[in-house]
Amino acid sequence: MDAKHSIAADLLRWYDAHRRDLPWRARPGQRADPYRVWLSEVMLQQTTVATVGPRFTSWVARWPDIASLAAADEAEVMAAWAGLGYYARARNLVKAARAVADEHGGRLPDTEAALRTLPGLGDYTAAAVAAIAFGRRAVVVDANVERVVARLFIAAGKPAVRAAAETITPDERAGDFAQAMMDLGATVCTPRNPRCMLCPLTAGCAARREGVQESYPVKPAKKARPQRYGTIFWLERGGEVLLVRRPARGLLGGMRALPTGPWAEDRPGLEDAPVAAGWRMLNIAVSHVFTHFALELALAVADADAHTRPASGEYWPVARIDSAGLPTVFAKAARAIRGELCG
Ligand code: ADE
Repeated sequence: MDAKHSIAADLLRWYDAHRRDLPWRARPGQRADPYRVWLSEVMLQQTTVATVGPRFTSWVARWPDIASLAAADEAEVMAAWAGLGYYARARNLVKAARAVADEHGGRLPDTEAALRTLPGLGDYTAAAVAAIAFGRRAVVVDANVERVVARLFIAAGKPAVRAAAETITPDERAGDFAQAMMDLGATVCTPRNPRCMLCPLTAGCAARREGVQESYPVKPAKKARPQRYGTIFWLERGGEVLLVRRPARGLLGGMRALPTGPWAEDRPGLEDAPVAAGWRMLNIAVSHVFTHFALELALAVADADAHTRPASGEYWPVARIDSAGLPTVFAKAARAIRGELCG
């Protein structure tokens, strides 16, 4: 058996004994539902397995198949995604479900190339779905796979890692192979203190041989995150608070939100308030880190009276704010403001 076959065979044997039991996975020997595979891969792109687990389960209880998702109200889908971040993923899920319903007879296409034509399915998702749901040979490289492969081959840089992954991907069971790499990366070949004594691939691991496991994968230097500032406006009226919908395009696009002005380099004050009112600043602030910048938000509160007429938005019961589907930054602000006003 050559090295390529031995790596795949050793890894698949390990997977058959140690695979994680995750809600989107088929029982051994059974076919996975392509919708569940697709949904889980989209959720898992920027979100941890621990967070995705319960969210995946409640999602498929509500929208059990592509047809139900295609028929869903987009605003409800966006609200159901609240807290998971990268909201374009939710909008693309609905768009792709509709494209599958309209153009593919309600079934996900079963090749990488055809999957890639759907909204939101990039190289990674198309490869993962083709392999895991349809048993196609596809090279699936996420962060866990990248780490395992970079260490096995002492491969530096994404192109080298990809080329190396290509050489060890088997023709059969490519989906199990991909998920085995992910499980190995998540549980054994971890970023710090990898548990090499439990690894089925130590015999062929170059990084282990050289004792340089933690130096791989080589990460490009991180760019500094700029700091931005903004103000959030909490307008209360009879136990309800004003919520708005963010513009469809841009950060947190289409999500329900608390009113806020632009997020800029300088600290704004009250100039972007949604309506004239007796605004006062609270003495607390809320911080949140996005991928491309860090944000500090001042918090302004006011009570609406009969003459306060915001140009847009809806009043939402404060006691039920947790069910408004607010993105995390606004949920944090709401919690801080309620704590301050009640406490
Ligand atoms: N991360 C991304 N996809 C995954 C999968 N199918 N199983 C476990 N972890 C994953």
